[in-house]
Amino acid sequence: MRILLTGGAGFIGSHIALLLLERGYDVLILDSFVNSSFNVINRIKTYLDNKDLKYNLKIIKGDIRDKRTVDNIFFESLKESKPIETVLHLAGLKSVSDSVTNPLHYWDVNVGGTLNLLLTMNEYECHSLVFSSSATIYGLSDSIPMSENHNISPINPYGKTKVAIENMFDDLYKSNKNLWKICSLRYFNPVGAHPSGLIGEDPIGIPNNLFPFITQVAIGRRTVLNVYGDNWETRDGSGVRDYIHIIDLAQGHLASIDYLNSNESCLEFINLGSGKGYSVFQIISQFELSTGCQIPFDIQSRRDGDVGVCYADISKAKKLLGWAPKKSLEEICLDGWNWQIKNPNGYT
Ligand code: NAD
Ligand code: WQD
Repeated sequence: MRILLTGGAGFIGSHIALLLLERGYDVLILDSFVNSSFNVINRIKTYLDNKDLKYNLKIIKGDIRDKRTVDNIFFESLKESKPIETVLHLAGLKSVSDSVTNPLHYWDVNVGGTLNLLLTMNEYECHSLVFSSSATIYGLSDSIPMSENHNISPINPYGKTKVAIENMFDDLYKSNKNLWKICSLRYFNPVGAHPSGLIGEDPIGIPNNLFPFITQVAIGRRTVLNVYGDNWETRDGSGVRDYIHIIDLAQGHLASIDYLNSNESCLEFINLGSGKGYSVFQIISQFELSTGCQIPFDIQSRRDGDVGVCYADISKAKKLLGWAPKKSLEEICLDGWNWQIKNPNGYT
């Protein structure tokens, strides 16, 4: 079965690609490499070669917004008698702060790119899709953990593009309830790395997110971690989030493919998280305990747009997909650190 994986060279996509190939899927990656390195592909191949696995992997360097590129992928697959059966759509831009500065670019790539993809899928009668949505679409409220029914009220352009895409799915599904099969997965905080240490997260420039910042402090690339606020209404005053091991998250996509294959038509919005909330200080302590590294930190004022507590109710994913996260916070720290020490400068 051929899968089109857009954004397959990125942090999340590369882990999904590896699991799909291990499971014997024929995988076609479309990526512009605007936020990823071609070395990722070599690493995926090295891993599979070392395990003596036969695999079918094709890479297309191109832009999701380019009609001709996307059309050609479907056309060529059909010609090879390997029609694309399911699309996993991850290609897009994800920086909250960037989206505030360049909103049109975010609407263009995220919404325009998805529209282009959907139009082409429809033309080629491929109606099975797994999409990368985000917990950033949820609005503020006291109801924690957050279920899929939590109010939708994003506060930044990035989050608004994800909501627009989900609305597009809604319209599409309602237009013909017997046609489309869509899982829109709302990720919480994906972290860690593949246990091999061959692939992991490699942010360009100064990391915005907590976990890669910690591993870069530990390896000596940064001197000190800024902790944004110690006066939140949480157990220790620091912000609480739902950190999910990247392999658990990737497994959630495989479970979604199985779910789509066993359904005639559907549109489901599904949280993917660990279902647990950990504070910044808890993450620092666990990282120090697991790795033996010290993480010096400074307390700073709260970061604009942050919330105190955000973690997922994952009962829907468990029930619908038969999926549950398996990896502990300790494994997150160990695998993330293993990736960082094996690749002190990421893929370069
Ligand atoms: P990433 O930047 O590592 O991966 C995205 C990939 O898409 C990159 O390889 C990039 O080169 C590619 N890409 C960007 N624009 C493209 C375009 N116009 N055409 C083709 N390819 C393009 O990000 P990630 O963390 O792997 O995130 C993957 C998806 O998951 C994104 O859609 C993101 O919004 C979503 N998501 C991520 C997180 C997170 O914390 N990482 C949380 C929620 C949702
Ligand atoms: C986690 C906690 C910070 C960095 C972001 C995006 C969201 C989603 C995932 C894509 C918070 C604190 C952080 C640092 C810190 N991405 N922190 N020092 O904010 O939950 O979500 O990534 O969809 O859209 O907004 O994750 O890792 O940035 O922060 O103290 O240097 O760590 O204040 O409490 P967040 P994060």
